[in-house]
Amino acid sequence: MDADIDRLRDEILASLAAAGDLAALEAVRISALGRKGRVTELTKSLGALPPEQRREVGQRVNVLKREIEAALATRAAELEASALERRLAAERIDITLPARERPQGRIHPVSQVAEEIAAIFADMGFAVAEGPDVEDDFHNFTALNFPPEHPARLMHDTFFLEATQDGQPLLLRTHTSPVQIRHMMAGPPPYRVIAPGRTYRCDSDMTHTPMFHQVEGLMIGRDVHMGHLKGCLIDFVHAFFERPDIKVRFRPSFFPFTEPSAEVDIGCRRGRDELVVGEGADWLEILGCGMVHPNVIRAVGLDPEDWQGFAFGMGIDRVAMLKYGIPDLRTFFEADLRWLRHYGFLPLDVPTTYAGLSR
Ligand code: PHE
Repeated sequence: MDADIDRLRDEILASLAAAGDLAALEAVRISALGRKGRVTELTKSLGALPPEQRREVGQRVNVLKREIEAALATRAAELEASALERRLAAERIDITLPARERPQGRIHPVSQVAEEIAAIFADMGFAVAEGPDVEDDFHNFTALNFPPEHPARLMHDTFFLEATQDGQPLLLRTHTSPVQIRHMMAGPPPYRVIAPGRTYRCDSDMTHTPMFHQVEGLMIGRDVHMGHLKGCLIDFVHAFFERPDIKVRFRPSFFPFTEPSAEVDIGCRRGRDELVVGEGADWLEILGCGMVHPNVIRAVGLDPEDWQGFAFGMGIDRVAMLKYGIPDLRTFFEADLRWLRHYGFLPLDVPTTYAGLSR
């Protein structure tokens, strides 16, 4: 009898250890402890034993039962744990992988820099205004205080179109200043806008292309003065180049539509093939500016005794070249994908003054 119990115990423990999943384990349990299980049958057979043996064998069968129950519980826990392991491994998600593919396209440095400039001036309360690329003589020249036959009209190397308006040829705007006129004629003062856009002059070399980009600035109020002009532009230069130590110089100049007029230079160092902004003793011109001429204020129907302010115009391509160390302006417009991958910006990194203009 003892030998039978031991054999039964070994068999059951062996098949229990061999059970590969919870279903197989349940089958082992039923075959051992179920209503018709082998241990159950053994318990039932105890009644046939003589009373003196019955007690002792009964105890051994009880020990066996508890041992099998404990082994079942241990094995069940093991199988559950390994099932969980398998499931976790199968359902594992690598959260370090990007949810979307990295975008392939790049933002052109001109677009990037236009956004950067708009972000900085937006912080100073400037809205964005726009005007057409095809202009007429009035908006591009006359209202900006270029008298007829004035030599400054020639300075601009204007592209004139065959189409005419009021007997005058239409033209491709030579600067963004006509947006000043359009904006002021469209509604009442005060004004505080920038106007980025394309401009055209018949010119082409390392630093000039027939189409280029400017951003105009205009601020008109009852008491806007030269101090405001200087403060705005100095703050702008520091914010744009992301260096508060850049030297800024206002040098007297001439534009028909401003009086007084100035050009703004920033401190730089010129090496043999390099130009470093913010170091050295050289100067580099980056924009023209001045107090809006009373004749311009009059041309848009306002009284210069009541309204005054400043304007500026800056080459977007030029400051992009300076900030991002791009040596040849012509490459901007060659649509070379390798160039764009190298100098372009990620489309989701939108420039802001708080999170960083260029990351
Ligand atoms: N329009 C001028 C240019 O293209 C720049 C400028 C704008 C100067 C506004 C003064 C004021 O050179």
